[in-house]
Amino acid sequence: MIKIQNQSEYEIAYRKSVENPEAFWAEVADSFVWYQKWDKVVEWNFLSPEIKWFCGGKTNITENCIDRHLKVRGNKIALIWEPNDPKERYIRLTYRELAERVNQFANVLKNNGVKKGDRVSIYMPMIPELAISVLACARIGAIHSVVFAGFSSASLADRINDSECSVVLTSDGLNRGEKQIPVKRVVDEALESCPSVQKVIVVDRLGWAIHMEEGRDVYLHDELKNAEKYCAPEPMDSEDPLFILYTSGSTGKPKGVVHTCGGYMVYAEYSFRNVFQYEESDIHWCTADIGWVTGHTYIVYGPLLAGATSVMFEGVPTFPDPGRFWQVCDKWGVTHFYTAPTAIRSLMQAGEDHVLAYSLDSLKVLGSVGEPINEEAWHWYHTHVGKGRCPLVDTWWQTETGGIMISTLAGVTPMKPAHATFPLPGIQPVLLDSDGNELAGNNVEGYLCIKYPWPSIIRTTWGDHERCRINYFATYKGYYFTGDGAKRDENGMYRIIGRVDDVINVSGHRFGTAEIESAINQNSNVVESAVVGFPHDIKGQGIFAYVICKEAPENAEYTRAEIVETVVAQIGRIAKPDVILFVSGLPKTRSGKIMRRILRKIAEGEYENTGDTSTLLDPLVVEEIIGQAKQVRNT
Ligand code: PRX
Repeated sequence: MIKIQNQSEYEIAYRKSVENPEAFWAEVADSFVWYQKWDKVVEWNFLSPEIKWFCGGKTNITENCIDRHLKVRGNKIALIWEPNDPKERYIRLTYRELAERVNQFANVLKNNGVKKGDRVSIYMPMIPELAISVLACARIGAIHSVVFAGFSSASLADRINDSECSVVLTSDGLNRGEKQIPVKRVVDEALESCPSVQKVIVVDRLGWAIHMEEGRDVYLHDELKNAEKYCAPEPMDSEDPLFILYTSGSTGKPKGVVHTCGGYMVYAEYSFRNVFQYEESDIHWCTADIGWVTGHTYIVYGPLLAGATSVMFEGVPTFPDPGRFWQVCDKWGVTHFYTAPTAIRSLMQAGEDHVLAYSLDSLKVLGSVGEPINEEAWHWYHTHVGKGRCPLVDTWWQTETGGIMISTLAGVTPMKPAHATFPLPGIQPVLLDSDGNELAGNNVEGYLCIKYPWPSIIRTTWGDHERCRINYFATYKGYYFTGDGAKRDENGMYRIIGRVDDVINVSGHRFGTAEIESAINQNSNVVESAVVGFPHDIKGQGIFAYVICKEAPENAEYTRAEIVETVVAQIGRIAKPDVILFVSGLPKTRSGKIMRRILRKIAEGEYENTGDTSTLLDPLVVEEIIGQAKQVRNT
């Protein structure tokens, strides 16, 4: 175990990690339980790509998350579950109780035919069973694929089919603020086109009477009655897949990012302990949903591997009022609070009174993740939530990186508003120019790449290794390309600027422009569309859609609503376009490529400097679009 506690230790660890990565990572990995030790720390090439960590090692991540803690931390709280409604009773599980629940759930999976290597889709709200089911899969070596419960049935079906899941774990419904949402109904719809699914295991969250398909659907509470209390952890090879998590790229449908057992385990714990400077009595609250990678690594795996107490929240920041986050912090004595800039910006808008109503005395460290945090939000968070005394870690990473890559180590390395700052020891970022040359020195800006592997780097995209190569390893030969642009300031601190590809980051969630366009194009009125991101006060980026209809809509509002509904049905409510502009043409080059640069400028409200339009097939179309945009903005 390595815990870096001051600046000079950081420098020493960083140097060692670059000079002798194998020795560095062997030391980190040594603190885990391995059924069989690795023969070689790393084997890699970034061209195929082929990356293996802790080769030949055998372990089970749940042995490390749970079993090994039982002797010393059996009665320590592992999970605190805070319900959506503050009047409902919370749940706390000690490590021993969590062990029982995970073991039994693992046996339920086995009894329902799940075997090592099978894929299990989990489409569940933020209830304890979600964390438990993830661990239960890992226990028996089944590969979990958690799908955020806000995605539509079509998205769920795509993800289930891509990885041919045999079982789906879900609930009758979910609570979200004042709303209740019929989750199982979404699953039923999805399963109309998912031939691989044999069983659905349903958690009775709301006590609803729901449709249960004979021979396919079973209730968890019934299954638990027949499940043994202990399930031996399956010995897993370091490089056996642990989970698949779908994420959007600039082309095609979302792809299944694959993480493996050994490397992911080592990096999840290492990054958790060091970035947050975790201590035994801390109460860690990451507000993300387990449907995203942040929830995987910093609600479930990282904290439990470290033997920490992790808070899991079912609700939303504004229910019953915008003070809910702070009320929960005071209620549980939260020491580490990790959230997204979009949440901070929306609570900022609700006014200081909500945050000033709570003491927040317990807080020691604040974290930010998912998108660049603007300076105003940074200062508000630091001043009003952290009372100016808590280090604020701006953590840059991605679904593909598995864990935090560039971040201040809380209270150990310096912070700077809106800067992720320095790489963790073991991470070697570089900035490249468009020809792929490394930019030396400071005060430079370029494409953010990583030149050496780390244990939780993406291994492949499920079922399509070539896609993984093309997306991440082909743009700059010999490097992992992040898709982000970044600056290195005069002190060598990194500032992430944002995506340089056709990916939009809405409230910290990634969508490919192509993915949204293809959803919009499903609407029978639509001939073609082009989508770009634009700066949005709360969401960071909003979605701006330029749409060509078959016939000019008679009632523009009505057609807009229809298109929004199409996107909601295809992807989910989170991908709703903010602005839909009806146009008669799109700016295209002679080879038919849409000039998104121009569309981005117009979406930003910049009508004067649209740049060179001489290569366009029809330069006049730009004038027309600007005219339309001005009209919409003025209404
Ligand atoms: O553009 C970066 C942005 O989010 C992208 C990764 O998205 P996702 O895989 O969904 O993971 C989000 C949570 C880890 C990155 O390519 N991003 C993430 N964190 C930051 C960020 N941009 C700026 N600052 C951050 N701290």
